[in-house]
Amino acid sequence: MQKYGLIGYPLSHSFSKQFFEAKFAREQLQEASYELYELKSLQELPPLLAREPGLLGLNVTIPYKQKILPYLKNLSPSAQTVGAVNVIKINADKSLTGHNTDYYGFLQSLSHQLGEYKNLRSLDGYRALVLGTGGASQAVQAALQSLKIPFQLVSRTKKQPKNLLYENLSEALIAEHRLIINTTPLGMYPQTDTCPPIPYQFLNAQHLLYDLVYNPEMTLFLQKGNEAGARIKGGLEMLHLQAEKAWEIWQSPEISTK
Ligand SMILES: NC(=O)c1ccc[n+]([C@@H]2O[C@H](COP(=O)([O-])OP(=O)(O)OC[C@H]3O[C@@H](n4cnc5c(N)ncnc54)[C@H](OP(=O)(O)O)[C@@H]3O)[C@@H](O)[C@H]2O)c1
Repeated sequence: MQKYGLIGYPLSHSFSKQFFEAKFAREQLQEASYELYELKSLQELPPLLAREPGLLGLNVTIPYKQKILPYLKNLSPSAQTVGAVNVIKINADKSLTGHNTDYYGFLQSLSHQLGEYKNLRSLDGYRALVLGTGGASQAVQAALQSLKIPFQLVSRTKKQPKNLLYENLSEALIAEHRLIINTTPLGMYPQTDTCPPIPYQFLNAQHLLYDLVYNPEMTLFLQKGNEAGARIKGGLEMLHLQAEKAWEIWQSPEISTK
């Protein structure tokens, strides 16, 4: 049996289990299975690996995306760039390699989106506002750096000297930043009537709003952007791209970078 799974705490709802079980059924991968492993602490990881010798790969979620780093022998370039890990490949010698597929998923999805109506060379004109400074924001920031899109962080608190507060978002700042990315959980089911507190009235057809939230597909953030004439993109494509990339990593030969 080829086993895969998700570690995190708590694990009430998992997109990954649903996604991989549907994939295994669709592709007739009868030998593959996907389990949820709720770990109260990462000290429970080594006993889990000993108990489950068939495990080939893990997804990692809140609160372990950074805490997992000391348990890993190697880090892929994506994990090194982001400084966090959401996918682990378990090598033949049982050592662990960390990857970040959120970075990959966002980079691919945003590039598709921008490429749909712009030659990528003209990304020069884009500046981005990144709403939120958590784990997903780190992957988004690394992807924007790769695309050479300058960005400013927007946060509820002045935790980094250069970040903006929501109340700083003037008409001029909104006009200067044509790409606005929501990396906060605002709008996520079941709190679907919430959205980031930005001045939506200053948005226009020049803007692209990207929401990492994928449930619902049409969040209030996107709805308000749409009403103001902006282009919009939800988080579902990124979610699928990052999950397929995890599968590709688990099937590929081992890497040895640190
Ligand atoms: N589509 C995908 O593939 C994908 C992948 C990863 C994550 N996501 C989604 O992205 C969202 C964030 O995930 P995460 O792992 O980054 O979570 P996280 O580490 O908890 O960070 C979220 C950040 O959002 C801000 N925030 C939190 N609560 C807020 C509130 N009530 N009002 C305003 N800002 C708030 C905070 O930044 P400040 O303290 O700076 O304000 C926080 O650091 C989740 O909804 C997750 O499902 C989607």
